[in-house]
Amino acid sequence: MFKKLAVSTITAAMLASSPDLAAGETGKIIDYDFSFEGPFGTYDRNQLQRGLQVYTEVCASCHGLDKVAFRTLSDPNGPELPDDQMRAYAEMYEIWDPELRDWRVAAGPDHFPESQFEGAPDLSLMAKSRVGFSGPYGLGINQLMNGMGGAEYVASFVNGFNGEEKFEAGSMFYYNEASASWVSMAPVLWEDGVEYADGTPATKEQQAKDVAAFLMWTAEPKMVERKQAGFVGVIFLSVLAALLYLTNKQLWAPIKRAAKEE
Ligand code: HEC
Repeated sequence: MFKKLAVSTITAAMLASSPDLAAGETGKIIDYDFSFEGPFGTYDRNQLQRGLQVYTEVCASCHGLDKVAFRTLSDPNGPELPDDQMRAYAEMYEIWDPELRDWRVAAGPDHFPESQFEGAPDLSLMAKSRVGFSGPYGLGINQLMNGMGGAEYVASFVNGFNGEEKFEAGSMFYYNEASASWVSMAPVLWEDGVEYADGTPATKEQQAKDVAAFLMWTAEPKMVERKQAGFVGVIFLSVLAALLYLTNKQLWAPIKRAAKEE
């Protein structure tokens, strides 16, 4: 029984670990490399800034980020905009102030607006609500090896339109290979659709990866701190385990010696 189980687990693991293309019950998810992968991975500040630029110029007209406060754009391990740039960025937005009962220019503590386009989901937590990797029959084996793949899903999704469209029940639908379904979002990324301030060539794939990295940060802004705390925890527990082992040896030493002498 156990042997059988082990064999089938190993076979499943082998099937699951095709490196480039992980096909689960979702569609085609490309296993892009991100700087924040692995136990010591951190966000790449320049990439987050580029992703913010793509979000602002391409996605913000439809999608909101209403869980994200502008001032966090200056936080360490984030896009780390200098304070004045962050404030200038916030001032590009107008938000509804319930106290004034009027619209006003946004400031650091305010949040990004909600989605502006009917049916467009808020993107604040999107990278954590989508699973890129699953494995055969949704066993989750790929997740064990490659992580959940939320950022990979977002990048594959925005770059995953194959050009097929159909008009149905009064609206347009576009086929997306990453979600393996017809969606009401049109393709929005084009070669050189944005011009990066840092001179990075703005291929479609580059824009997709950058905006996905940025959305990973909005969904998990404290990832780097969490990993560091986890690492400190592991070191602490290792030291504690060693000390306990030595204490245990020492405490029992006289008793063992006495037992031997008898
Ligand atoms: C013209 C409006 C519009 C723009 C611009 C737009 N989207 Fe969308 N997006 C939508 C709509 C509408 C949906 C819902 C599609 C559906 O579920 O059929 C959607 C859905 C999504 C989803 C969810 C897919 C899923 O698995 O359900 C993601 C992720 C996404 N958009 C990311 C982006 C990113 C990133 C950008 C900018 C590069 C962007 N969108 C630009 C309208 C837009």
